[in-house]
Amino acid sequence: MQRRDFIRSGAMAAGVMAVPNMLRAQGSKARVRMGFIGVGNRGTQLMHIFMKNPLVEVTALCDIYEPYLKRDESAYDPKFFEWGLKGRMPSFHQKDGTLKPQEAALATRIKAGTCRLYKDYKALLADPEVDAVCIATPDHWHAIMTIDAIKAGKDVYCEKPLTTRRRTRARSWPWASTGAATTRTAS
Ligand SMILES: NC(=O)c1ccc[n+]([C@@H]2O[C@H](COP(=O)([O-])OP(=O)(O)OC[C@H]3O[C@@H](n4cnc5c(N)ncnc54)[C@H](O)[C@@H]3O)[C@@H](O)[C@H]2O)c1
Repeated sequence: MQRRDFIRSGAMAAGVMAVPNMLRAQGSKARVRMGFIGVGNRGTQLMHIFMKNPLVEVTALCDIYEPYLKRDESAYDPKFFEWGLKGRMPSFHQKDGTLKPQEAALATRIKAGTCRLYKDYKALLADPEVDAVCIATPDHWHAIMTIDAIKAGKDVYCEKPLTTRRRTRARSWPWASTGAATTRTAS
Protein backbone atom coordinates (compact mmCIF):
# COMPACT_ATOMS: atom_id res chain seq x y z
CA MET A 1 0.00 0.00 0.00
CA GLN A 2 1.27 3.46 -0.89
CA ARG A 3 1.53 5.93 1.98
CA ARG A 4 -0.18 8.38 -0.32
CA ASP A 5 -3.26 6.13 -0.48
CA PHE A 6 -3.19 5.63 3.27
CA ILE A 7 -3.12 9.33 4.02
CA ARG A 8 -5.84 9.96 1.45
CA SER A 9 -8.15 7.28 2.82
CA GLY A 10 -7.61 8.37 6.42
CA ALA A 11 -8.22 11.99 5.63
CA MET A 12 -11.30 11.23 3.54
CA ALA A 13 -12.71 9.04 6.26
CA ALA A 14 -12.25 11.80 8.77
CA GLY A 15 -14.03 14.21 6.48
CA VAL A 16 -10.90 16.27 6.03
CA MET A 17 -9.76 18.15 2.93
CA ALA A 18 -6.47 17.01 1.52
CA VAL A 19 -3.43 19.22 1.13
CA PRO A 20 -1.81 17.52 -1.86
CA ASN A 21 1.44 19.45 -1.89
CA MET A 22 2.19 18.22 1.65
CA LEU A 23 2.26 14.61 0.50
CA ARG A 24 5.64 12.91 0.44
CA ALA A 25 5.27 9.22 -0.30
CA GLN A 26 7.93 7.17 1.46
CA GLY A 27 7.45 3.94 -0.46
CA SER A 28 4.92 1.21 0.00
CA LYS A 29 4.09 -1.26 2.74
CA ALA A 30 1.40 -3.90 3.16
CA ARG A 31 -0.05 -2.10 6.17
CA VAL A 32 0.47 1.18 7.94
CA ARG A 33 1.35 0.79 11.61
CA MET A 34 -0.16 3.70 13.48
CA GLY A 35 0.44 5.26 16.87
CA PHE A 36 -2.17 7.55 18.41
CA ILE A 37 -0.96 10.42 20.60
CA GLY A 38 -3.81 11.80 22.69
CA VAL A 39 -6.63 9.28 22.86
CA GLY A 40 -9.28 11.45 24.46
CA ASN A 41 -12.51 12.41 22.75
CA ARG A 42 -11.27 13.33 19.26
CA GLY A 43 -8.30 10.96 19.29
CA THR A 44 -10.59 8.04 20.02
CA GLN A 45 -13.02 9.10 17.27
CA LEU A 46 -10.16 9.31 14.79
CA MET A 47 -8.71 5.99 15.91
CA HIS A 48 -12.06 4.28 15.40
CA ILE A 49 -12.28 5.78 11.91
CA PHE A 50 -8.74 4.74 10.99
CA MET A 51 -9.41 1.24 12.34
CA LYS A 52 -12.20 0.79 9.80
CA ASN A 53 -9.48 0.81 7.17
CA PRO A 54 -8.21 -2.79 6.96
CA LEU A 55 -4.80 -1.50 5.89
CA VAL A 56 -4.27 0.22 9.23
CA GLU A 57 -2.79 -1.55 12.24
CA VAL A 58 -2.79 0.21 15.64
CA THR A 59 0.55 -0.53 17.24
CA ALA A 60 0.79 2.15 19.96
CA LEU A 61 -1.24 4.54 22.10
CA CYS A 62 -0.01 7.47 24.14
CA ASP A 63 -1.84 9.55 26.70
CA ILE A 64 -0.95 11.13 30.02
CA TYR A 65 -4.40 10.27 31.44
CA GLU A 66 -4.19 6.63 32.46
CA PRO A 67 -7.92 5.70 32.18
CA TYR A 68 -7.89 6.81 28.53
CA LEU A 69 -4.57 5.11 27.88
CA LYS A 70 -5.68 1.84 29.46
CA ARG A 71 -9.18 2.13 27.97
CA ASP A 72 -10.76 1.89 31.42
CA GLU A 73 -13.99 3.87 31.69
CA SER A 74 -14.53 2.64 35.26
CA ALA A 75 -11.49 4.67 36.35
CA TYR A 76 -12.76 8.01 35.01
CA ASP A 77 -12.68 10.73 37.66
CA PRO A 78 -16.27 11.12 39.01
CA LYS A 79 -15.76 14.91 38.92
CA PHE A 80 -15.95 14.77 35.13
CA PHE A 81 -19.53 13.52 35.37
CA GLU A 82 -20.43 16.06 38.10
CA TRP A 83 -19.18 18.79 35.79
CA GLY A 84 -21.36 17.52 32.93
CA LEU A 85 -18.46 16.46 30.73
CA LYS A 86 -19.74 12.96 29.98
CA GLY A 87 -20.35 13.68 26.30
CA ARG A 88 -16.82 15.03 25.89
CA MET A 89 -15.09 11.89 27.12
CA PRO A 90 -14.41 8.86 24.95
CA SER A 91 -16.88 6.04 25.21
CA PHE A 92 -15.68 2.52 24.55
CA HIS A 93 -19.09 0.85 24.70
CA GLN A 94 -22.13 0.65 22.46
CA LYS A 95 -25.64 1.48 23.66
CA ASP A 96 -26.31 -2.18 24.51
CA GLY A 97 -23.30 -2.17 26.86
CA THR A 98 -21.01 -4.28 24.68
CA LEU A 99 -17.57 -3.05 23.68
CA LYS A 100 -17.35 -1.22 20.37
CA PRO A 101 -15.75 -3.56 17.81
CA GLN A 102 -12.69 -1.31 17.50
CA GLU A 103 -12.23 -1.29 21.27
CA ALA A 104 -12.60 -5.08 21.42
CA ALA A 105 -9.92 -5.42 18.72
CA LEU A 106 -7.74 -2.91 20.57
CA ALA A 107 -8.12 -4.76 23.89
CA THR A 108 -6.97 -7.95 22.18
CA ARG A 109 -3.95 -6.20 20.71
CA ILE A 110 -3.02 -4.56 24.03
CA LYS A 111 -3.27 -7.89 25.83
CA ALA A 112 -1.11 -9.55 23.19
CA GLY A 113 1.48 -6.79 23.39
CA THR A 114 1.02 -5.86 19.72
CA CYS A 115 -0.29 -2.45 20.76
CA ARG A 116 2.00 -0.77 23.25
CA LEU A 117 0.98 1.93 25.73
CA TYR A 118 3.09 5.01 26.39
CA LYS A 119 2.72 8.00 28.70
CA ASP A 120 5.60 9.82 27.03
CA TYR A 121 5.00 10.67 23.36
CA LYS A 122 8.75 10.65 22.69
CA ALA A 123 8.86 7.00 23.72
CA LEU A 124 6.11 6.27 21.21
CA LEU A 125 8.05 8.16 18.53
CA ALA A 126 11.07 5.97 19.28
CA ASP A 127 9.02 2.82 18.65
CA PRO A 128 10.21 1.27 15.37
CA GLU A 129 6.85 -0.50 15.02
CA VAL A 130 5.15 2.85 14.39
CA ASP A 131 5.12 4.22 10.81
CA ALA A 132 2.64 7.04 11.27
CA VAL A 133 1.06 8.97 14.10
CA CYS A 134 -2.29 10.61 14.66
CA ILE A 135 -1.98 13.58 17.04
CA ALA A 136 -5.12 14.70 18.91
CA THR A 137 -3.68 16.35 22.01
CA PRO A 138 -4.63 19.89 23.13
CA ASP A 139 -3.81 22.59 20.59
CA HIS A 140 -0.59 23.88 22.16
CA TRP A 141 1.04 20.45 21.72
CA HIS A 142 0.31 20.04 18.01
CA ALA A 143 3.28 21.87 16.50
CA ILE A 144 6.01 20.46 18.71
CA MET A 145 4.66 16.92 18.50
CA THR A 146 4.35 17.19 14.71
CA ILE A 147 7.93 18.46 14.41
CA ASP A 148 9.23 15.73 16.71
CA ALA A 149 7.28 13.08 14.81
CA ILE A 150 8.65 14.19 11.47
CA LYS A 151 12.17 14.27 12.89
CA ALA A 152 11.58 10.70 14.06
CA GLY A 153 10.67 9.74 10.48
CA LYS A 154 6.95 9.24 11.11
CA ASP A 155 4.13 10.32 8.83
CA VAL A 156 1.68 12.58 10.61
CA TYR A 157 -2.04 13.16 10.76
CA CYS A 158 -2.57 16.05 13.19
CA GLU A 159 -5.76 17.56 14.49
CA LYS A 160 -6.39 21.20 13.81
CA PRO A 161 -4.98 23.70 14.50
CA LEU A 162 -1.42 22.72 13.61
CA THR A 163 -0.23 25.58 15.76
CA THR A 164 -1.60 28.44 17.77
CA ARG A 165 1.33 30.75 17.03
CA ARG A 166 2.51 32.18 13.75
CA ARG A 167 6.18 31.81 14.73
CA THR A 168 5.75 28.12 15.48
CA ARG A 169 3.91 27.66 12.21
CA ALA A 170 6.80 29.18 10.32
CA ARG A 171 9.18 26.81 12.09
CA SER A 172 7.11 23.67 11.56
CA TRP A 173 6.06 23.88 7.92
CA PRO A 174 9.57 23.72 6.41
CA TRP A 175 9.90 20.32 8.06
CA ALA A 176 6.62 19.27 6.54
CA SER A 177 7.42 20.43 3.04
CA THR A 178 11.03 19.30 2.77
CA GLY A 179 11.26 16.43 5.25
CA ALA A 180 11.02 12.72 4.57
CA ALA A 181 7.61 12.34 6.14
CA THR A 182 4.09 13.22 5.01
CA THR A 183 1.85 15.44 7.07
CA ARG A 184 -1.79 16.27 7.06
CA THR A 185 -3.85 18.43 9.36
CA ALA A 186 -7.57 18.33 9.92
CA SER A 187 -8.02 22.01 9.14
N1 LIG B 1 -11.66 18.28 13.85
C1 LIG B 1 -12.64 18.26 14.74
O1 LIG B 1 -13.82 18.18 14.39
C2 LIG B 1 -12.30 18.31 16.19
C3 LIG B 1 -13.28 18.02 17.10
C4 LIG B 1 -12.91 18.03 18.43
C5 LIG B 1 -11.61 18.33 18.80
N2 LIG B 1 -10.70 18.64 17.89
C6 LIG B 1 -9.31 18.92 18.27
O2 LIG B 1 -8.75 17.72 18.79
C7 LIG B 1 -7.83 18.03 19.83
C8 LIG B 1 -8.20 17.23 21.08
O3 LIG B 1 -9.49 17.62 21.53
P1 LIG B 1 -10.37 16.65 22.45
O4 LIG B 1 -11.72 17.23 22.48
O5 LIG B 1 -10.19 15.23 22.00
O6 LIG B 1 -9.68 16.84 23.88
P2 LIG B 1 -9.46 15.73 25.01
O7 LIG B 1 -9.06 16.47 26.23
O8 LIG B 1 -10.64 14.83 25.09
O9 LIG B 1 -8.23 14.87 24.47
C9 LIG B 1 -6.91 15.32 24.51
C10 LIG B 1 -6.07 14.20 25.09
O10 LIG B 1 -4.69 14.54 25.00
C11 LIG B 1 -4.07 14.05 26.18
N3 LIG B 1 -2.81 14.76 26.38
C12 LIG B 1 -2.60 16.03 26.81
N4 LIG B 1 -1.29 16.31 26.84
C13 LIG B 1 -0.65 15.19 26.40
C14 LIG B 1 0.73 14.86 26.21
N5 LIG B 1 1.72 15.73 26.45
N6 LIG B 1 1.04 13.60 25.78
C15 LIG B 1 0.05 12.70 25.54
N7 LIG B 1 -1.27 12.96 25.70
C16 LIG B 1 -1.61 14.20 26.11
C17 LIG B 1 -5.09 14.33 27.27
O11 LIG B 1 -4.83 13.55 28.43
C18 LIG B 1 -6.38 13.94 26.58
O12 LIG B 1 -6.70 12.57 26.74
C19 LIG B 1 -7.89 19.54 20.03
O13 LIG B 1 -6.82 20.12 19.34
C20 LIG B 1 -9.20 19.95 19.38
O14 LIG B 1 -9.16 21.24 18.87
C21 LIG B 1 -11.01 18.63 16.58
